[in-house]
Amino acid sequence: MAEIMRLLRNDHGNFVKLLNVLDRQIVELAAGGRADFDLLGSIVEYSLNYPDLCHHPKEDRVYKKLRDRDPAAARDIGDLEDEHRRLAAVVRRLAAAIATLRRDSELGSDGVVAVAREYMGFLHRHMEMEEQRFFPAAVQALTLDDWAAIDAAFVSRADPLFGPTVNRAYQLLHDEISHPGQGWRNGRPAHGPRPVEPPTRPATGERRRQHRMETFLSGILTGSDSIHDCSVLDVSPQGAMVRASEPLESGAAFALEVARIGGFRSRGKDILGPGVGARVVWSRDDRAGLQFVGDADAIARTMDGILSQAGWGSSPGTA
Ligand SMILES: [Fe+2]
Ligand SMILES: [Fe+2]
Repeated sequence: MAEIMRLLRNDHGNFVKLLNVLDRQIVELAAGGRADFDLLGSIVEYSLNYPDLCHHPKEDRVYKKLRDRDPAAARDIGDLEDEHRRLAAVVRRLAAAIATLRRDSELGSDGVVAVAREYMGFLHRHMEMEEQRFFPAAVQALTLDDWAAIDAAFVSRADPLFGPTVNRAYQLLHDEISHPGQGWRNGRPAHGPRPVEPPTRPATGERRRQHRMETFLSGILTGSDSIHDCSVLDVSPQGAMVRASEPLESGAAFALEVARIGGFRSRGKDILGPGVGARVVWSRDDRAGLQFVGDADAIARTMDGILSQAGWGSSPGTA
């Protein structure tokens, strides 16, 4: 089996585990109980980023090749790229609904329950279609050279939740997936107080490394006359790579702000720290490279604080 197909099927298995945790939270909410907003936040944060950054691009590439090799089979599957866009839109609505409920519990949970059920049903049907029709059609139609070219086109990124190293920001969700329902009930730890990690203090005045740190964070880019939601894909002391909701113009200037895990991408979201000035130095499709603008030490300290608060550890700017 092509490596890419193994990765895609593995992702689907992980998404089912994620949906199971979401489903338990929604059952609790629908029954009038309290959901664990930290868990919901992590689920939505992962769902906002990982599928669109790592899973859907691979499927879209396989689908494009299937269109070349077997147009009838591709037509039968429908517009896969559009379905991915619609899935992402439902996740954004879910994020907004959860953020609203978290701010004002008096509103009631009906909105969150309805959108969450819509999302769970949509994603289950989508994965079932892919497993039963799309993947077999692709395996049938694509050549070994096609698979080799697709495999070579992707640089693997570590999955922060299901990968070999669980990111600190996703530890709670990882525990819940590994031991379903054992650790948390109604938003409270079942046994003893929830452990609180001491905040990581940004190191200052130390020797700085220059490498990039891969991240999966939600952010917002504010320009003089435009605002873009974005995912922050990596960060270095000099800049960041982002995936923006719309293509960014080279040379454009923005303030980059990063949202708290579970803070979601929405206007007025839970932003960590002050914004960092940045300029777009390259832009290709939905990706863009940003160069930070301003005092390098001040920027490094700001980014350290933001990454620590986001649970992502300190930035590559500090040793
Ligand atoms: Fe898909
Ligand atoms: Fe998929």
